[in-house]
Amino acid sequence: ARDYNVVVLGSGGVGKSCLTAQFVQNVWIESYDPTIEDSYRKHIRINNRHAVLEILDTAGTDQFTAFRELYIRQGHGFLLVFSITSMSSLRELYDIYEEIITQKRDNRFPMVLVGNKADLEDDRVVDKSIGFRLSREWGIPYYETSARRRTNVHEVFAEVTARMMDR
Ligand code: GTP
Ligand code: MG
Repeated sequence: ARDYNVVVLGSGGVGKSCLTAQFVQNVWIESYDPTIEDSYRKHIRINNRHAVLEILDTAGTDQFTAFRELYIRQGHGFLLVFSITSMSSLRELYDIYEEIITQKRDNRFPMVLVGNKADLEDDRVVDKSIGFRLSREWGIPYYETSARRRTNVHEVFAEVTARMMDR
């Protein structure tokens, strides 16, 4: 099976580590422990095609974003994660997206826009239509996920994998 590097990007506290932990280990993490950098390997099968994902769970906090250029260079695919409870977390993805398409010189690079914490409907500030509009503008898929409820967690990793395989 081919190896693919999937990089999980987005601001601090949006749920990158929780999504990754649910996908890789099937566990829910309630506490918040800011990431410096973690990586995980996980086998995935899509329509009888096999792949091994090397998942890089990055730091959202500012002092570590100097590594972003390196992460982007290594990535074969990206999850761009924000929280539906934070408009600024969505805005922070604009720069990240620009950095990816600039560095890769490709605006069709495998990426998925992920609106996490969808279980917190009462605290929602990013309307679904905003996510869909941005994803259309960028030409990438949009999923709303809940790491807490394990909703669409496998789906976002499967979607980015399918796109990496088709390149
Ligand atoms: P950094 O490592 O600092 O960049 O943060 P992160 O994006 O990895 O966030 P993390 O996964 O550590 O989650 C931050 C907090 O949000 C934790 O307390 C989680 O329990 C909570 N959280 C993450 N995902 C969800 C979700 O889908 N729903 C709810 N309700 N809480 C979530
Ligand atoms: Mg983290």
